[in-house]
Amino acid sequence: MGGVTVGQIGLGYWGKNLVRNFDELAELTWLCDASAELQQQFASRYPGAHVTADFTALLADPALDAVVIATPVPTHYALAKQALEAGKHVFVEKPPAMKGAEMEELLALAEERELVLMPGHLLLYHPGVRKLKELVEAEELGDLLCVYSNRQNLGIIRRDENALWSLGVHDLSVILYLVGEEPEEAIAHGNAFLNPGVEDVVFCYLRFPSGKIAHMHLSWLDPHKMRKLTVVGREKMAVFDDMELERKVTIYEKAPWEPAGTYGEWRTRTGDIFSPKVANDEPLRLECQHFLALVQNGPDGHKEARDGLSVVRALDRLTESLRG
Ligand SMILES: NC(=O)c1ccc[n+]([C@@H]2O[C@H](COP(=O)([O-])OP(=O)(O)OC[C@H]3O[C@@H](n4cnc5c(N)ncnc54)[C@H](O)[C@@H]3O)[C@@H](O)[C@H]2O)c1
Repeated sequence: MGGVTVGQIGLGYWGKNLVRNFDELAELTWLCDASAELQQQFASRYPGAHVTADFTALLADPALDAVVIATPVPTHYALAKQALEAGKHVFVEKPPAMKGAEMEELLALAEERELVLMPGHLLLYHPGVRKLKELVEAEELGDLLCVYSNRQNLGIIRRDENALWSLGVHDLSVILYLVGEEPEEAIAHGNAFLNPGVEDVVFCYLRFPSGKIAHMHLSWLDPHKMRKLTVVGREKMAVFDDMELERKVTIYEKAPWEPAGTYGEWRTRTGDIFSPKVANDEPLRLECQHFLALVQNGPDGHKEARDGLSVVRALDRLTESLRG
């Protein structure tokens, strides 16, 4: 994949991880950040790349294929739009926009110009989440009934994004991926205890047209450090626990059953509990490889951008409910 030329804007906490991967997987030719200190640091670490504070300098380079955006969320939409208009493929950290209408505009631009627009929904490249999807698609769990996520910890206390936007975007991307539908009902409750207008604790409820339901508990005011997703099927149940080192996915052979002739009298049964093998590959590397493959082979129906639009739309509706 060495052939794709990549330029990145945003070299902060998360950006440096993307730079490391794209430097290894592609040809990193431009690095851009507003901070002079970061420019200096990255110039000495990546002497082969041009380093600048001027985003238009990257966009003006006809030899640059793709732009990676890892700046703060409120800047994503404008930067992604500028890059697409300049004819560049775009990888943009999640979420690419803060309004459904803005994301629709980005998707339309990508479609019109046949450019890749891929939001950085990291968990979708996690082998544990892929395993869950495999189980759901193979109907290993029976009908999917309900999914719920726990993303809680004490900190990091954010001041610009609330828990829904900062934490919920991860779980929403996975829930929509597993359910394969957009919610018809999206309700959120929460409160801002520390910084006015920035909810620290948010509970969300989603109901899908098929009747499946989902819930998310998002909080940075919590005694538990949890990054867990539970999937309840009619035949089996499964848990993805990202805090576990080895047993990322556990399958429970637990289910309700209705003995013949006892209509409406449900009993439960419990069988084995086991952990399938989950590859140890780094999700971020898989995500970067996927982007480069799209750049080389074409946007393939713009699936990633469409999924990104579903996530932004759901966030938009949950925000409306939270504020309502
Ligand atoms: N996928 C994940 O798991 C994950 C984890 C953390 C952060 N993120 C995402 O990564 C993005 C960046 O987060 P972060 O924690 O690295 O933030 P950060 O504040 O550490 O870094 C952002 C950088 O962008 C630069 N910047 C901002 N506006 C700019 C502009 N207009 N031109 C040039 N440079 C500009 C800043 O100088 C800063 O260095 C966010 O969208 C965040 O949601 C994703």
